[in-house]
Amino acid sequence: MVGYKFMGKAHSHAYRDLPFYFDCETEPVLQALAGRDEEGVKAAAEKMGWLSYETDWRRLIERDDIDLIDIVTPNNTHAEIAIAAAEAGKHILCEKPLALTMEQAQRMYNAVKKNNVIHMICYNYRFSPAMQFAKKLIEEGRLGKIYHMRATYLQDWIMDPKFPLVWRLTKEVTGSGALGDIAAHSIDLARYLVGEFDEVTGMMETFIKERPVAEVSGGLSAKSDSSVMKEVDVDDASAFLVRFENGAMGVFEASRFAGGNRNGNRFEINGSKGSIRWDMESMNNLEVYFADDEAGLQGYRNITCTEEQHPFADAYWPAGHIIGYEHTFINLMTELMKGLSEGYSPSPNFDDGIKNQEILAAIEKSVETRGWVKVEQMKLVENV
Ligand SMILES: NC(=O)c1ccc[n+]([C@@H]2O[C@H](COP(=O)([O-])OP(=O)(O)OC[C@H]3O[C@@H](n4cnc5c(N)ncnc54)[C@H](O)[C@@H]3O)[C@@H](O)[C@H]2O)c1
Repeated sequence: MVGYKFMGKAHSHAYRDLPFYFDCETEPVLQALAGRDEEGVKAAAEKMGWLSYETDWRRLIERDDIDLIDIVTPNNTHAEIAIAAAEAGKHILCEKPLALTMEQAQRMYNAVKKNNVIHMICYNYRFSPAMQFAKKLIEEGRLGKIYHMRATYLQDWIMDPKFPLVWRLTKEVTGSGALGDIAAHSIDLARYLVGEFDEVTGMMETFIKERPVAEVSGGLSAKSDSSVMKEVDVDDASAFLVRFENGAMGVFEASRFAGGNRNGNRFEINGSKGSIRWDMESMNNLEVYFADDEAGLQGYRNITCTEEQHPFADAYWPAGHIIGYEHTFINLMTELMKGLSEGYSPSPNFDDGIKNQEILAAIEKSVETRGWVKVEQMKLVENV
């Protein structure tokens, strides 16, 4: 694994816990961790249970005792690491978003296809049992024809104008702001549950135009006493409308300036026969409404998705004994282990990663051109 902070912790924990809950033919061995700072990577490897460490990710790729490269570094590093890993015949798990640009994403996609390695991208929210159950209800036709999806992904961790300029606020490291960081998750859930995007139109805003440079940062926290200010060149908030290929309408909003919302990943889907709604901060619950319920008893009901009928749930605890954020990663990696045993790339994989990237690019283009953009127009020819 390359990187060892926020996602490094989530992935390490998931690899360690996976065999405790699931019987997989292929089991993860935490062989080596890579980071640039020897003292930091050594301490992280000891704490998180990695057997060895390297101070350059290229050494991981050269090692014969490593089959899978897990990329949990900032977005500007994904392409170089993934392409080198694929060319060395290593399987890949990459954090989202796939890349900074469509051009990078296409090169990554070409590399995994050409070298025939297993690939996955870490859109983990799909793997909460409630989301898997939502998918099942939709596939069974229980919501009927889907008319609407309205999704918000709201955070508030950078509202203080003195909050430093971390990598997530610098275009050349992150690609885009709230759009690629959090709306990308809503886009993945929308593709998973509703279907492919046809066209989009969006708006973006940067409320705080410059910030002090960061001195120490990791995940969503940072410290700085610096008086040196630098420009914020990504969106603090984005909103967009979607026409899905199946005719459904989508309304999406992602913001890091929605005070009081810490990780408000929420949505509602309405169909001809029923509706569902979900809130990540109560992730075990799926609210469900069916139009054919008896008159007088109609309304949303709240299902706690911890029963044996709810995918992945019975690997954990008895009904009503809830699971958390970290379990979404364990579930995703269980799929990855299955894919490694059976020789396929479980979804979400780089096919999903590149489609997500096309949508992000189309939204950015629509903001530039102040109009609607067909997602298909963002597709690159494969021989980039
Ligand atoms: N799936 C999710 O819900 C989710 C949540 C958070 C972050 N992410 C994604 O995970 C990735 C990492 O985000 P994070 O929050 O863990 O970041 P972070 O800042 O907490 O950690 C990044 C790590 O990468 C290391 N790093 C940076 N540049 C490097 C380089 N050139 N070589 C080696 N190591 C390098 C840093 O030292 C650090 O260990 C990003 O792509 C982000 O979008 C996904």
